[in-house]
Amino acid sequence: MDWELNKKDKAWLAETADKLKAKLAWVSEKSKEKIPFIATENGEHDNMANSNPDWWTNGFWAGMLWLMYHETGEERYAEIARFSEKILDGCLEQYLVLHHDVGFMWLHTSVADYRLTGREEAKRRGLHAANILAGRFNPAGRFIRAWNDRFEEENGNKGWAIIDCMMNIPLLYWASDVTHDPHFRQIAMLHADTAMANFIRPDGSVCHIVEFDPYTGAFVKSYGGQGYAEGSSWTRGQSWALYGFALSYLHTGKQEYLDTAKKVAHYFIANIPEDGLVPVDFRQPKEPDYRDSTANAIAACGLIEIARHVPEYEKDMYLNAALRLLKALDTLCCRYDEGCDYIVGRGTGAYHDAAHEYPIIYGDYFYLEAIFKLNGSHILLW
Ligand code: GLY
Repeated sequence: MDWELNKKDKAWLAETADKLKAKLAWVSEKSKEKIPFIATENGEHDNMANSNPDWWTNGFWAGMLWLMYHETGEERYAEIARFSEKILDGCLEQYLVLHHDVGFMWLHTSVADYRLTGREEAKRRGLHAANILAGRFNPAGRFIRAWNDRFEEENGNKGWAIIDCMMNIPLLYWASDVTHDPHFRQIAMLHADTAMANFIRPDGSVCHIVEFDPYTGAFVKSYGGQGYAEGSSWTRGQSWALYGFALSYLHTGKQEYLDTAKKVAHYFIANIPEDGLVPVDFRQPKEPDYRDSTANAIAACGLIEIARHVPEYEKDMYLNAALRLLKALDTLCCRYDEGCDYIVGRGTGAYHDAAHEYPIIYGDYFYLEAIFKLNGSHILLW
């Protein structure tokens, strides 16, 4: 263990981990032929397997199952996780439906399968996805392009990059590790360097979208994206940066990445509201008081990784903040009972969406990852 928590926190984590395992034991069986994204009104998992197999969140359910496999050793979790992996094969064949989010989609399906079981076919799928991600690199601007064409204009969004992509590039670090070909890692680091220089503001806040000229690579402008407005501070984007830079540090040892993760973390921690559940955007108007539980869970995971990599006397601040975010989820958002399939409620996709505060699968995934990690489990699927 990298730290010693107090008795009360340890007991809370052990009890919460047990509740999560008990819930997933039956939900996994109930949803074994689904790839859930959100829960429907009656609390049941929806299913993206047939309707939207290329949706960016389609790796998280498998990720939860692989975490459970690692935790319990039960083979049935691997079998259910492979349902998602198989469905995603169809997207590799279609190719044009894929974009920067191949990291989110394959890291927790095939790559997790390969990491935990060594299956060769899983490795092949993961490498296929990594090549798609690497193929989106723009050498003039040194960034990985976000999404595919969205607009008619000549340059359209060909020069767009987003902070979320910091969570996709671990696929490239993994690809270099398994192929011993440094070019995947080089692309990941060039992208991370560009993100560090162009997305992170001096106060530690982060913008969501940056547009570069796709021919010269010059900075054009930033956009508010899924946050409130340009210049605002979308909390999930802050948490993608916080965790994403921590992961880039962990895979490369480059000190500036850890320093950047810490800088974003300090801004994030300073803005956590009284009740511990963060808003959709730290700079949104006071009303309506929209929250996003997913940013809590993602930031907690990142804070735990930062705590792992700072000197002893720095750890407490990050661990205490992670615990505060997780306990707020436990108290204000979580359902461990049999009345619904989801665990974490009150997630929000984007500030300007019509709907706010509903269960989203990646809220569940990151909550599970954070609780298992703090409870002593050593597996990193990134
Ligand atoms: N990566 C998309 C999102 O965070 O909503």
